Amino acid sequence: MRVPFLDLAAQLETTRPDIERAVLDVVASGRYVGGPVLESFERAMADYIGVDHAIGVSSGTDALLVSLMALDVGPGDLVVTTPYSFFATAGTVARLGAAPVFVDIDPRTFNMDPARLADWFEREVERRPRVKAIVPVHLFGQCADMAPILAVAAAYGIPVVEDAAQALGARYPVGGDVGTSGGAGGSSIRGGTSGSQVSRGVSHGDRPAGTMGTLACFSFYPTKNLGAMGDAGLVVTGDSHLAERVRRLRNHGGHDAYQHPEVGGNFRLDTLQAAIIAAKLPHLDGWHARRRKRAAYYEEHLAALGLELPAPVWGRDHHTYHQYVIRVADQRDALRQHLAVRRIDTMIYYPVPLHRQPCFHYLDHPAGAFPNSEDAALRSLALPIYPELTPAMQDRVIEETNAFFRA
Ligand SMILES: Cc1ncc(COP(=O)(O)O)c(C=O)c1O
Repeated sequence: MRVPFLDLAAQLETTRPDIERAVLDVVASGRYVGGPVLESFERAMADYIGVDHAIGVSSGTDALLVSLMALDVGPGDLVVTTPYSFFATAGTVARLGAAPVFVDIDPRTFNMDPARLADWFEREVERRPRVKAIVPVHLFGQCADMAPILAVAAAYGIPVVEDAAQALGARYPVGGDVGTSGGAGGSSIRGGTSGSQVSRGVSHGDRPAGTMGTLACFSFYPTKNLGAMGDAGLVVTGDSHLAERVRRLRNHGGHDAYQHPEVGGNFRLDTLQAAIIAAKLPHLDGWHARRRKRAAYYEEHLAALGLELPAPVWGRDHHTYHQYVIRVADQRDALRQHLAVRRIDTMIYYPVPLHRQPCFHYLDHPAGAFPNSEDAALRSLALPIYPELTPAMQDRVIEETNAFFRA
């Protein structure tokens, strides 16, 4: 039995009629860019996430790029993030002529360590660094520890852009202390304790990923928990001025026809992709329930091996298990090979941390600069987890992982 890392064809079997209808409707409508289908997708996403404004864009990468542009990030500026993420998190910063500043991750969660963030600001504050944004990443489907991150941001008056590309539907439990963060150029940061932006069905005190920063970015890359059939992304915000600016920037910075107060790009989302994502959205919570069930099953059956399993620090029901990433001391590559030979696919996220990428050598971070990220890069292994993973397939993964360690 082959165990693929992900099986989007199997997923299509559960959504095919809805998707076919949505696609054919767009095809018949003749509106392929913008239009009512895009607008209703944006409303549906804003409702699901629990935000006032959602703006469809061409990818998660462009969501980050346009969000940073909306905060006026440019040459000479700094943006603080972590070195353990997908390349776009830092690549978009560099594309704008700014420099990424890295702070290491908490080894338990793979997410930005708020204590290290606070340390960096304390160390650097005398030099008055031009930090334009802090970009925490909610990696693998679990929220970063946002309350202390927002507290640091508030103390220095810096906006937060959540990289929620992997975390649509994830939640962060707070007792009302989120929302104290500083704003961008006088605009108010979202948050607060009113709960007015909290989605329906979310228990009191929880903050969904995407509702805590000044802006937040999502990706619908096909392999995401909610995937398009091509590239697609989303920017969300509670700030109407920033929302307006993102809308302008995604369309060459123009507002009326052929009037361009500033330079933007073509960051528009195809209407077909919007229709496909909207057709899949009603399935998402059910898919998350199935991912959580599979995570619980791995936990139960791998616990005895002494591996480091994912730590759902906010509770399993707050995690969306975009990936199930274990850490293996010393033998990660041998385990991967053992599974591959037995036709069980795994992945390594991410083998080279961002500060060690050749394109960032100019930042001058030696090996060992961010030990937790480097350790994660050496030891992490993502096991298959998706709603269509059958019990028999999951048992194969468990059986062969056990067999490897018994040998
Ligand atoms: C953490 C993170 N940020 C940004 C992105 C960029 O999204 P996209 O691939 O849609 O451009 C991704 C997608 O893989 C991601 O995982």
